[in-house]
Amino acid sequence: MLIIQRKVSMERTLALVKPDGVQRGLIGEVISRLEHRGLKLAAMKLMRLDQATAQQHYGEHVERPFFPGLVEFITSGPLVAMVWEADGAVEIVRNTMGATDPKNSPMGSIRGDLGVNIGRNLVHGSDSVESASREIALFFQPGEILDYTRSNDSWIIEP
Ligand code: RTP
Ligand code: MG
Repeated sequence: MLIIQRKVSMERTLALVKPDGVQRGLIGEVISRLEHRGLKLAAMKLMRLDQATAQQHYGEHVERPFFPGLVEFITSGPLVAMVWEADGAVEIVRNTMGATDPKNSPMGSIRGDLGVNIGRNLVHGSDSVESASREIALFFQPGEILDYTRSNDSWIIEP
């Protein structure tokens, strides 16, 4: 018997519930939206970011006027870091979160439904596959990222 296995590429992305989301009690809401969408959770932790890691994470913005405030904010309290998996996870997570500025985020997106201000936009999602692998390595040890089977996978992803 010939078994044709379709290769489903499992892209990974980093998602954060930023300190404002933690303080506002929206951790569960954010996880729910990503979980209900069908993404698979591969790693998660509550942590406080130190200055050096924050500066590295947002290194691309070092010259921008909002950089000091951004680093101060992201290190100001606990955040939740997560790795989510799906074919196209980077794009799916960004779409679920909405535009950077909640003012321009469509209703139905996390930022569009729950935020009003660009400096308090609740969540982060990696902006490319390259950024995702860099950011995941910044937040997680390889052994903290779990590979497991979901029993309902065939109801979410066509085999
Ligand atoms: P993030 O990295 O946090 O997921 O957000 P993003 O990709 O949608 O936006 P990005 O351009 O990477 O900006 C990083 C964070 O910087 C703050 N920001 N403030 N005041 C401003 O003009 C401004 N622009 C960006 C936002 O908090 C944004 O999430
Ligand atoms: Mg970004």
